[in-house]
Amino acid sequence: MNLSALNTTALAMVTPGKGILAADESTGTIRKRFDAINVESTEQSRRDYREMLFRSEGMSFISGVILYDETIRQAAADGTPLVKLIEQAGGIPGIKVDEGTQPLAACPGETVTTGLDRLADRLAAYYALGARFAKWRAVIAIDKDTIPSMTAVHGNAHALGRYAALCQAAGLVPIVEPEVLMDGDHDIGRCFDVTQRVLNEVFSELRIQRVALEGMILKPNMVVSGKTCPVQAKAAEVAEKTVQLLKECVPAAVPGIAFLSGGQSDEDATAHLDAINRFGPLPWKVTFSYGRALQAAPQQAWSGKAANVPAGQRAFTHRARMNALASHGQWTHELEKAA
Ligand code: 13P
Repeated sequence: MNLSALNTTALAMVTPGKGILAADESTGTIRKRFDAINVESTEQSRRDYREMLFRSEGMSFISGVILYDETIRQAAADGTPLVKLIEQAGGIPGIKVDEGTQPLAACPGETVTTGLDRLADRLAAYYALGARFAKWRAVIAIDKDTIPSMTAVHGNAHALGRYAALCQAAGLVPIVEPEVLMDGDHDIGRCFDVTQRVLNEVFSELRIQRVALEGMILKPNMVVSGKTCPVQAKAAEVAEKTVQLLKECVPAAVPGIAFLSGGQSDEDATAHLDAINRFGPLPWKVTFSYGRALQAAPQQAWSGKAANVPAGQRAFTHRARMNALASHGQWTHELEKAA
């Protein structure tokens, strides 16, 4: 393992003032997004949409792009590989390598993420296609008392550790993503406790499986109130609890933390990241790795029409710029509205 090369890539992924674009929706997920804007999901419409993003000015705020298997093999309309477009814009190509979730039969409502079979071979193939980092998302359901089970937490943490070790052996920086869902009416304290359990288990597995912390990026959820909880914590509390938890659970050897947006509104995702980065010096670089919170606006503006490409690019650039400011703790409501 070349730890120095992995560390260099990991640090580049969290370059100050930049963050990661999660454009790795599976074919099923992007179909849902396109359904919402009345666009038919075809290989070409998916390519056109992603080409629009990768050619936009907003890429100056993007350190890396997470791609899906189809996208890493696609070329733009003029024949340039999409991977090349990302590199030309100064971004690092990455790849989602998990294969989705499978229900845990003994634990109703819970899942474990699959994809370890033949993963070493797939990682070597993705490296050859230009990927320098990978992503694996574990999904942790939560309720007020019994979920998550030890089974779900341990099974998912073990898979994350094994995935991360295989990535590093293949020269790819693993993004380790244990996502505690926002769905539910639990309060922010319950989100704190569950996320703490999950992160502790994940770092224990990473140690057991000898993952070099200097060569990885953590992609956690923020500590927030459940979506349907009657009391919604404000940005200051989200930031305070998130920073407290991460300081307790995440060793300083980890170069960077890049949050998922997880269904927060665009502006909440930005405001929360900003509040976290206003907390003063943190042991790691802290930025975004957003999917929905970067793409909902450009998807609406584009709506599948070639004539709307400039509007789609402007919408993407705005969200990328706002989140870049938040990664410095320099975002304000006024800047948001000044667009
Ligand atoms: P969201 O920001 O939409 O949660 O997506 C990030 C991601 O990569 C989920 O795996």
